[in-house]
Amino acid sequence: MNNTIKIQNGKLIVPDQPVIPFIEGDGIGKDISIPSQRVLNAAVEKSYGGKRKLLWKEVLAGEKAFQQTGENLPDTTLDTFREYLVGMKGPLQTPVGGGIRSLNVALRQTLDLYVCLRPVRWFKGVPSPIRYPSMVDMHIFRENTEDIYAGIEYMTGEENTKKFSDFLINEMGVEQIRFPESTSFGVKPISKEGSERLVRAAIKYAIERKLPSVTIVHKGNIMKFTEGAFKNWGYDLAENEYSGQTFTWRQYEKIKKEKGEIDAQKALKKAEHAGNVIVKDVITDAFLQESLLRPFDHSVIATMNLNGDYISDQLAAMVGGIGISPGANINYNSGYAIFEATHGTAPNIAGTGKANPSSLILSGVMMLEYLGWTEAAEHVLDAMEHTFSKRRVTSDLYDMMEGATLLTTSEFADEIIRNIH
Ligand code: NAI
Repeated sequence: MNNTIKIQNGKLIVPDQPVIPFIEGDGIGKDISIPSQRVLNAAVEKSYGGKRKLLWKEVLAGEKAFQQTGENLPDTTLDTFREYLVGMKGPLQTPVGGGIRSLNVALRQTLDLYVCLRPVRWFKGVPSPIRYPSMVDMHIFRENTEDIYAGIEYMTGEENTKKFSDFLINEMGVEQIRFPESTSFGVKPISKEGSERLVRAAIKYAIERKLPSVTIVHKGNIMKFTEGAFKNWGYDLAENEYSGQTFTWRQYEKIKKEKGEIDAQKALKKAEHAGNVIVKDVITDAFLQESLLRPFDHSVIATMNLNGDYISDQLAAMVGGIGISPGANINYNSGYAIFEATHGTAPNIAGTGKANPSSLILSGVMMLEYLGWTEAAEHVLDAMEHTFSKRRVTSDLYDMMEGATLLTTSEFADEIIRNIH
């Protein structure tokens, strides 16, 4: 039987019983991996009887890999992800000392997983620091391969740094380096191709899911040629590739200038009525404020790496924290996708049964949606909502909920499975 997911003309071909490679992860990775798989298996079984099944295949990374093979990220692990396209991973400890800076970054770079997708929604019953958490339903598309995170950095005092500094000052005529002798540098590459593929993925996602808008979040007012260019390339792409399916704020401004505000308002209303995705842009600092005060104004967010990092954690906190927010790293062209818990290895609670497996379970839900197994995804979401509303939770949420029942990681998974059935 063929158990390999393939991609043809940009569309995934998913067999009924696909092999899904998974990395267990370090720390609480061991505690949450198997319970999460049990939940996903139960939802698949409930939805499709025995017809469809996830065939889990463990691949090594992190501490377990190092103990067994002497390497943190063996080539066979990468080869297996390449072969099967879609996989899952628990959290990995960042190795201390030289060599690879982060296994997560290595995975993203090697497989060119250019989108970091983080859907943020609230589950009834989960404690939130904001007044109307039910109005939060956002989908963050964070560019994963560029920006100041590309790792092009020069530490003050080192030879290359002096070369770099001299080049800027002597050859480029740069005068704004205030203390050249003690300055470190970081380079921020933002490309047209990189920006376009990210914004394209965000718009496509909004269209497919009938979501109302895509907000481009940037600091283009200050960083004109990087973040400002990202915004402009994003608008160009929406207007050129998705004309008829999107309406941009830039088009609105153009109509306003040429024909007046009333005509611009009319064009916007017409586009909304036709179900077009409204593409807008907001400066990052204003966005962080707006997302708290008016979360309902934003649906899909398209942004660069550093902004995306900050935004992901703020939005996660608004709906109950990193213990329950899922994520995926995806390349929509090659089909490669790794669905992962967004939190770290939580060494302080590893092995105690306190870990909340929700982040990994919800990442699994994203994976089911990616495979097109939406019925199974819905079953997990309904069962989780039911479990939270009955206040039967793990210790992180128990501490914040009145009248809650404390469950271990495994008991919480069992409770969800009971609610599926
Ligand atoms: P962390 O996310 O592991 O822990 C932060 C706090 O949140 C701790 O108090 C922890 O107990 C709690 N927490 C995290 N996940 C939880 C869960 N599922 N249920 C209940 N409580 C949870 O972040 P930290 O301590 O900064 O990092 C620890 C290690 O994890 C580091 O080596 C770091 O590099 C790595 N890391 C890996 C990530 C990944 O693999 N995607 C992401 C973030 C950190």
